[in-house]
Amino acid sequence: MKILITGASGQIGKHLISQFANTGHNILALDRQQLDITDFNKTVHIFNTYQPELTINLAAYTAVDLAEENSEHAFLVNQQGAENISKAAASIDIPIIHLSTDYVFSGTKSAPYTEDDVPDPINTYGKSKLAGELAVKKSNPRHLILRTAWVFSNEPKNFLTTMLRLAETQKTISVVDDQTGGPTYANDIARTLAILANQIQGFTASDWGTYHYAGMPYTTWFEFAQAIFQLAPQRDGFEPTQLIRIKSSQYKTLAKRPRNSQLNTQKITDRFAIPPANWHLALKELFTKPDAA
Ligand SMILES: NC(=O)c1ccc[n+]([C@@H]2O[C@H](COP(=O)([O-])OP(=O)(O)OC[C@H]3O[C@@H](n4cnc5c(N)ncnc54)[C@H](OP(=O)(O)O)[C@@H]3O)[C@@H](O)[C@H]2O)c1
Repeated sequence: MKILITGASGQIGKHLISQFANTGHNILALDRQQLDITDFNKTVHIFNTYQPELTINLAAYTAVDLAEENSEHAFLVNQQGAENISKAAASIDIPIIHLSTDYVFSGTKSAPYTEDDVPDPINTYGKSKLAGELAVKKSNPRHLILRTAWVFSNEPKNFLTTMLRLAETQKTISVVDDQTGGPTYANDIARTLAILANQIQGFTASDWGTYHYAGMPYTTWFEFAQAIFQLAPQRDGFEPTQLIRIKSSQYKTLAKRPRNSQLNTQKITDRFAIPPANWHLALKELFTKPDAA
């Protein structure tokens, strides 16, 4: 199948390219320089020229705190850009898989969020991603929206690599223990995207829609940090670090974070036999085979 991937140089994109290697699929993986998704004319031109049979949109403005100050840019990429890709796909009658986030929810629910829960984001990033979801749904009936959460990998700019970087210079690190969610390894998301892509040509009308996919078991950032530092000593030159448990109210950020980021993943398991990933196993894989990312 011919598959066009946008945002291909991001952490999920890099893993997805590896997942598709040697599978026989014909992959056009484009980074922001090659396709800026906010440019509708270029998007349509590339779709018309390449004639993909599926597109996977991984391009997004993902700087959660900066989005509070750059709201216009966040919406331009996460809403308008998503709409551009979805419309371009619809114009050549192909489906879209679009990535979204737990941050579309407020986090006030006491149980894991299902796909039937009504989104009510509390920060600009979440609002822009929700606007993108709505734009994708409206412009292309053949859409899969995959919401995931707390993505980690060996790439810079995620919780895992931030913890390891801080540990190089700090004897103590304070981590919040009152936000819960499912840390999700970028490679597990990529594997899931590849499974969905492989099945997509056989989809029936009821298969399209929104799905949750996240790592299990649910945990807190503090417990996730503990798990990281239990494994980190396996890496050369690692200095022990003391973790300090704090409340979100003691850690000021520009953007508010949902207290409960737990995604219920039963629907994707029931529909496509995709079980939730186990983040403990993923962490072990990363620490024993650091090149895995
Ligand atoms: N990271 C998480 O914890 C998390 C959680 C839930 C859902 N998600 C979703 O998962 C998807 C992929 O995220 P990720 O973690 O792989 O993020 P990432 O590493 O930040 O990758 C996003 C990619 O999008 C590119 N991009 C930004 N603006 C663009 C534009 N106008 N046109 C084309 N490309 C553009 C970025 O390129 P540049 O680097 O060149 O700007 C980057 O390569 C996103 O939809 C995100 O919302 C992520």
